[in-house]
Amino acid sequence: MDETTIEIREYEPRDRAAVREICRSTAYGGAEEALVDPHLFVDLMIRAYTDFAAGGVWVAERRGDVVGYLAGGFDERRLQRVQAWRVIPGAVTRALGRGLLWRGSLWRLLADLPGFVAEGRKAREPDEERYPGHLHVNLLPESRGRAVGRRLVEQFLDEARRRELSGVRAVVYETNHKARRFFERLGFRPIGRRPAFKPPPKEGGREWKIVYGKEL
Ligand SMILES: CC(C)(COP(=O)(O)OP(=O)(O)OC[C@H]1O[C@@H](n2cnc3c(N)ncnc32)[C@H](O)[C@@H]1OP(=O)(O)O)[C@@H](O)C(=O)NCCC(=O)NCCS
Repeated sequence: MDETTIEIREYEPRDRAAVREICRSTAYGGAEEALVDPHLFVDLMIRAYTDFAAGGVWVAERRGDVVGYLAGGFDERRLQRVQAWRVIPGAVTRALGRGLLWRGSLWRLLADLPGFVAEGRKAREPDEERYPGHLHVNLLPESRGRAVGRRLVEQFLDEARRRELSGVRAVVYETNHKARRFFERLGFRPIGRRPAFKPPPKEGGREWKIVYGKEL
């Protein structure tokens, strides 16, 4: 294997810290200040997969280092159960211990709840029955643009087909044009649009997410 080769393989427990770090550092395009609590964010995004097998995780490895991952679920109800019973209680308790209640961003998020709910009524919700699987994928910047994302998504799609899923989803910020083009190149199409649940930008306005779907 030459030193630039990137291998795709299934997640192993030894990858946990690297995967969590990539999840944190790539959040919101690297804008960590947008996170109310980075550990809480990472727990909510990835712990169901890394610690409780709520779906599958694949990693991209280069010279022994994890440079990207894909986490995906095949059974939405199972994921929701794991989140509700095993992830959220501990994650929130630990965040409270770190001073969650003293973060201004939390209160901005809560103050925005009525607006978020009102905008949510205008959302175009995707047909989750038709697209029951879902994935998120993140690579470190230096490993992008080399077909690693495509290979990770193909692994996930192979597994989703093996499980006879009718379709899968991926959610992307409306302004994340690179990721939107990536999913479009892989045959995903917009199937929904919803407001982002995050502290509103200080300059006002609201961010939206596009839900992409691919039939299998
Ligand atoms: C989005 C991301 C996963 C794409 O992975 P990648 O390895 O860089 O993309 P690939 O090299 O596999 O590209 C696959 C296809 O998408 C296209 N594509 C990827 N990035 C693109 C870009 N910035 N502009 C246009 N097309 C792009 C490629 O041209 C390629 O198409 P082709 O094979 O037909 O030529 C990766 O860039 C990333 O981790 N970005 C930051 C995190 C993120 O936004 N995650 C998505 C949220 S779920």
